[in-house]
Amino acid sequence: NTAEKGGYDHFMLKEIHEQPKAIRDTLAGRLKEHNVDLSHEIALSDEEIKSIDRIHFIACGTAYHAGLVGKYVMEEFTRIPVECDVASEYRYRNPIITDKTLVILVSQSGETADTLAALREARKHGAKVLAITNVVGSSIAREADNVIITWAGPEIAVASTKAYTSQLIAIYLLGVYFAQIRGSKTKAELEEVVHHLQELPEKAEIVLGEEKAIGQFARSIASNEHLFFLGRGLDYAVAMEGSLKLKEVSYIHSEAYAAGELKHGTLALIEEGVPVIALATQKSVYEKMVSNIQEVKARGANVLGLAQEGNTELIKSVNEVIHIPATLDLLAPVLTVIPTQLFAYYACQERGYDVDKPRNLAKSVTVE
Ligand code: G6P
Repeated sequence: NTAEKGGYDHFMLKEIHEQPKAIRDTLAGRLKEHNVDLSHEIALSDEEIKSIDRIHFIACGTAYHAGLVGKYVMEEFTRIPVECDVASEYRYRNPIITDKTLVILVSQSGETADTLAALREARKHGAKVLAITNVVGSSIAREADNVIITWAGPEIAVASTKAYTSQLIAIYLLGVYFAQIRGSKTKAELEEVVHHLQELPEKAEIVLGEEKAIGQFARSIASNEHLFFLGRGLDYAVAMEGSLKLKEVSYIHSEAYAAGELKHGTLALIEEGVPVIALATQKSVYEKMVSNIQEVKARGANVLGLAQEGNTELIKSVNEVIHIPATLDLLAPVLTVIPTQLFAYYACQERGYDVDKPRNLAKSVTVE
């Protein structure tokens, strides 16, 4: 019934709308003035944090995509080399792990069998182990030495939404916390990040205000069988998540591509009317991104662009633009992913599937 869905038709839509709160709750109590304090949750001493020389993010599905953002974020904040692996690959590939390796397991449920097995493997090789999970007392939370809880609240829909954005927040907090201890960023730089983190709940609310326009675009392309998400840098990581969300609930075949790689093969699939969602929120690669968009536009693609507020020129190269409020490029994924979640939801509605129970998928996969 709709009562348990808080008046929404589906859990997925309810959970998309709960993101401002999930972000706020995940930040709460961890920001002290202009600093991040995780010392009550993380057992690692300052000396241990300083000794880390390698980070591995390990996860499955949507949580893996949070890890892809985590790679950029942790490298930026700490300059420690970071790898990101899907859990089912990691444990069978003989990864290089020492006692200076920090293995970060990301899991909404804390029960995913592949992720739990990877945790045990990492620990067996002497790694420091940290879990980012949404469930207090879950297997992964219990077995990890360090735990950051994402306070997203229960996530019911199979397609993960608010857990992902909360995982990103946990990763930013960890990045700032490590940078404070390692001295890898200036105080002013970190204060600016904290300031912008605090504005994210309000900005997420503003993105949700774009729901109608996103729904319209989703309905207009819902009869297509193929679609592409394009992005560079952090936008590429978000493109992967947006693409997964669409496949999971609408069954439209979708591929996420690093925009610069398109010309090496995938461009062959772009023809008249193919929908493309182009993420263009990152300043350092913006011009390159626009030329990639022009390449697909010239071949007839129907392009929806995502850009930061203040961008008035992307519209010249695309069919429609959705804006997210301006923020630091590093934090943009939290906002950019929201239109892609709404897009998947409305494409599914138009096609008439049960969005909360996609075929063949389970919320938590506790077998290998
Ligand atoms: C399942 C779900 C996905 C989820 C993945 C990892 O496949 O359908 O939505 O991302 O498991 O789940 P976890 O609980 O470990 O984040």
